[in-house]
This record gives sequence, structure tokens and C-alpha cells, in this order.
Amino acid sequence: MTHQPKPPVDAPAIRVVMMPRDTNPDGTIFGGVLLSLIDQAAYVEAMRQAYHQYVTVSFKEVEFHLPVYVGDVLSLYGETLRIGRTSLTIHVRVRARRRSDPDQFVDVTEGEVVFVSVDENGDPVPVIAE
Ligand SMILES: CC(C)(COP(=O)(O)OP(=O)(O)OC[C@H]1O[C@@H](n2cnc3c(N)ncnc32)[C@H](O)[C@@H]1OP(=O)(O)O)[C@@H](O)C(=O)NCCC(=O)NCCS
Repeated sequence: MTHQPKPPVDAPAIRVVMMPRDTNPDGTIFGGVLLSLIDQAAYVEAMRQAYHQYVTVSFKEVEFHLPVYVGDVLSLYGETLRIGRTSLTIHVRVRARRRSDPDQFVDVTEGEVVFVSVDENGDPVPVIAE
């Protein structure tokens, strides 16, 4: 059975400033840092849909469109695409406000995350009570 997700909100799920510790050896932001932030933003969105214990089961269709730099302010927006029986599929869009030009906002990365709601033993349980 599927359920309709709550509609997305205008506000970002999270906002964060990129720091020197987040860079790869070439000085731009490490992709793994962005994946971690996408995971966190998707979690915030999942908890907005339904309060549960969740585990990440997959990342899908992640695309790094543009590099991210130290000092950029990232806003991560979550939208739930699908609520399955025990899973949620969430799209996350990452928008950067450039430190080099505070008037410039660019979409730098996007991806989908699938969470599974689990019980205390780690077994899947319905997202919405059946
Ligand atoms: C997530 C986990 C509980 C799923 O267990 P499972 O026995 O495969 O569960 P099921 O086969 O019943 O699938 C549960 C749901 O997950 C979905 N799912 C399973 N594997 C998936 C995948 N690779 N991609 C997308 N969805 C997937 C199923 O479609 C199902 O969704 P639905 O109920 O909405 O239809 C288990 O694989 C797990 O514990 N993984 C480790 C999670 C973890 O530790 N993540 C942190 C990062 S290391």
C-alpha cells in the first residue's frame, strides 16, 4: 500500500557553512561530505513525514552538478517522492550561496535517498500504521 506524502515545505531541511576540513586534496568540497549532508537532510524530511527509527538503505541518482567551495552556505531541501509500506524515497536538492558572490545561488548537487523504518531489532516496520 502507498500513502500520499505531505507536500514539501519552502524552508530547507538543513543549512550549513562549508569549512576547510570539508575539502578534498584539490581544495573543493569532498563529495562524501555532501553525501553525508544529503543523508541528514533526508532524515529531517523523513521525520517530518512520520516519526520513526530509520536506516538508509540506498542512495540513488546522485549528481554533482557544480563544485562547492569553502565558505559556501548550503541549503538542502527535501521532498518525499514516495511512501511505500516500510520505505520512504526522498529527493534532496543542494543549493549553494557562493562566498565569492553572496548574490549568487546555484543548484550544486541533487540525489535521492531511500530510508526504511525499522523497529528496535532493525526489522522493517510500516511507515504508516496498517
Ligand atoms: C534496510 C534493511 C532493514 C532492509 O531489510 P530487508 O530485509 O531487505 O527488508 P525488505 O526486503 O522487507 O525491504 C524493506 C523495504 O526496503 C526497500 N528496499 C530494500 N532494499 C532496497 C534498495 N536497495 N533500494 C531501495 N529500496 C530498497 C523495499 O522495497 C521495502 O520497501 P517497501 O516496504 O516500502 O515496499 C536492511 O537491509 C538493513 O538493515 N540494511 C542496513 C541499513 C544500514 O545500516 N544503513 C546505514 C548505512 S551503513
